[in-house]
Amino acid sequence: MLDELEKIKKLALEELQSVTNSDEAESFRIKYLGKKGVLTKHLKNLSQVPPESRPAFGRLGNELKQSLNKAISIYSKSSSVKKNTKLEDFTLPGESLKPPRRHPIRTIMSQCLDVFKSMGFESKTGPDIETDFYNFQALGIPADHPAKDMHDTFYLNPKGLLRTHTSPVQIRTMEKSSPPIRIIAPGKVYRRDSDVTHLPMFHQIEGLLVDKDISFADLKGVLEMFLHGVFGSNVKVRFRPSYFPFTEPSAEVDISCMNCDGNNKDCRVCSNTGWLEIAGAGMVDPEVFRSVNYDSDEWTGFAFGLGIERIAMLIYGVTDIRLFYENDLYFLENF
Ligand code: DAH
Repeated sequence: MLDELEKIKKLALEELQSVTNSDEAESFRIKYLGKKGVLTKHLKNLSQVPPESRPAFGRLGNELKQSLNKAISIYSKSSSVKKNTKLEDFTLPGESLKPPRRHPIRTIMSQCLDVFKSMGFESKTGPDIETDFYNFQALGIPADHPAKDMHDTFYLNPKGLLRTHTSPVQIRTMEKSSPPIRIIAPGKVYRRDSDVTHLPMFHQIEGLLVDKDISFADLKGVLEMFLHGVFGSNVKVRFRPSYFPFTEPSAEVDISCMNCDGNNKDCRVCSNTGWLEIAGAGMVDPEVFRSVNYDSDEWTGFAFGLGIERIAMLIYGVTDIRLFYENDLYFLENF
């Protein structure tokens, strides 16, 4: 009985291919699904089917009935269906969806956080909408300070702004808890900027460690360990003197160019310098400690800030940062 049903299915589907208008669809319907139709009659034989095959027989019969009805209904709704239009085989399984993937920025972000967590750093977050106090003043950048210009801030109203860096989380954390502190703060930051290496929104990880007798050597140790964890142990790390209003002394941190290792005269990744800037860092300025009522004679600490898109570009060899946010599935499928 089941075999017979399979045969009917095969025949019906073949015949369906040659149905091209509503009249033919109606004859087809009568032939298979009418009161005395082939399929209708055959399905009445259920009682003769061995009990163990009945569920399969019933299921197949119903599925076939539904598919044929659906196919026919297309013609009966519209008599103007073009000649030679082939009908779909509604019994075929649908096209399978691609499995979901993680966005590359999220992948790199969680790899970075894992390395810091393995060193005992706890993750903290702060608001994207900040005040001038947390984003600037408490970090040693008073109103009208020229350093503010570097930040290209999006102001929301006289009091609110979109944070230009994750450094305000340093202040918010120190206000709420007393030392020792060992945190990282991942999150989105915003700047009025857009080109192949800059975006109006990107991600940073801030780091802050405050304890007794913390020195620049501790900062070097932590960042070297992090950079070896993310870029591999062969990468070289160097610290260049720099300036940030909330750290003293301050440094910019470079890694050796993984593309040419300093040897290639035509390296576009490092512009032949052999080095790539990867972070800003320094020892927490005593003025910052004063703004959160920490005794800078008792406590010392270091801080750092890293750009995640920059790290992702280097790891994946992406040369235009904007590609990460165009939602182009062909691009995103590569990761
Ligand atoms: N907030 C800085 C920026 O976005 C990066 C930075 C530099 C963070 C030095 C720090 C630091 O914590 O110590 O440009």
